[in-house]
Amino acid sequence: MKAVGDETVHLVVTSPPYWNIKDYGNHRQIGYRDTLIGYVQKLNKVWDECLRVLKPGCRMCINIGDEYIRAEGKTPYQIIPLHAYLVNNIILQTSRKRKVLYLGSIIWQKIPTTRTTGGASVMGSYGFPRNGYVSYNYEYIAIFKKRGKPPRAPENKERERIDLPGWRELFNGVWRFNGARQTAGIAVFPDELPRRLIRMFTYEGDTVLDPFLGSGTTTKVAMKMRRKSIGYEIGFRSPLTEENWTELIRRKIGYYDFSPDTRDSVFNVEIKETSPRTIHSIA
Ligand SMILES: C[S@@+](CC[C@H](N)C(=O)[O-])C[C@H]1O[C@@H](n2cnc3c(N)ncnc32)[C@H](O)[C@@H]1O
Repeated sequence: MKAVGDETVHLVVTSPPYWNIKDYGNHRQIGYRDTLIGYVQKLNKVWDECLRVLKPGCRMCINIGDEYIRAEGKTPYQIIPLHAYLVNNIILQTSRKRKVLYLGSIIWQKIPTTRTTGGASVMGSYGFPRNGYVSYNYEYIAIFKKRGKPPRAPENKERERIDLPGWRELFNGVWRFNGARQTAGIAVFPDELPRRLIRMFTYEGDTVLDPFLGSGTTTKVAMKMRRKSIGYEIGFRSPLTEENWTELIRRKIGYYDFSPDTRDSVFNVEIKETSPRTIHSIA
């Protein structure tokens, strides 16, 4: 993220690619066909960069679900605790570990729209003891804070006041709302997820970064909430639509709602390296 200066971002909101579940169709993607250690190490580089660009006293919020491995042959059913690895890695392994504090995770209980994290309804020895399995209908939002003095609140901060019921809902340890409808097949999160985090941790005019932009949800919501936004996306091929990924993002973030002569003053879309030529296969 060389284009982003040190300590210029007020909030990071993101959901990294899964480990070895989804092929986003780009050979430089993180996750697919990586070993677990390789995956975690690559993600660490991303978190290091995020912590470089994040302002002191500001938050980095990462949505991640644990994954399940299907029982097959000699391999028993099991859960890969990606959330635990992620938290441990950020506070113990990243080169900026001394700069970061872990502030706990929100459990996001959702009605699953895909089965990527084992959302099966009844599993195991249904009806009888010993071998039933917990149904995994939740993900996490891990919250980190960069040490240091936070930026000052703006003069007009009253406009962003959160009343007590609102505060209780936002800062509750368990969130309940639906997942997004998966029209692109790339594990999109619903608008409600970045909406809540942006409301909790930023003021109008602040900058929100998503290093795994996907379809552009974070940017779409940030713009709606009058925040600035930066997104990085390596490029994917949607298994469900023919639409090119850059077009999909442009449409979602409202690029075409602006007239051609004003677009460039609102958006700075830069597409480098990633092109259909680098796309290799589709699962
Ligand atoms: C879980 S999806 C993010 C979905 C996003 N939150 C949304 O609502 O659309 C993860 C994204 O990370 C992208 N990705 C994978 N490896 C990447 C890399 N090395 N750099 C940037 N993006 C990458 C994938 O192409 C995919 O779009």
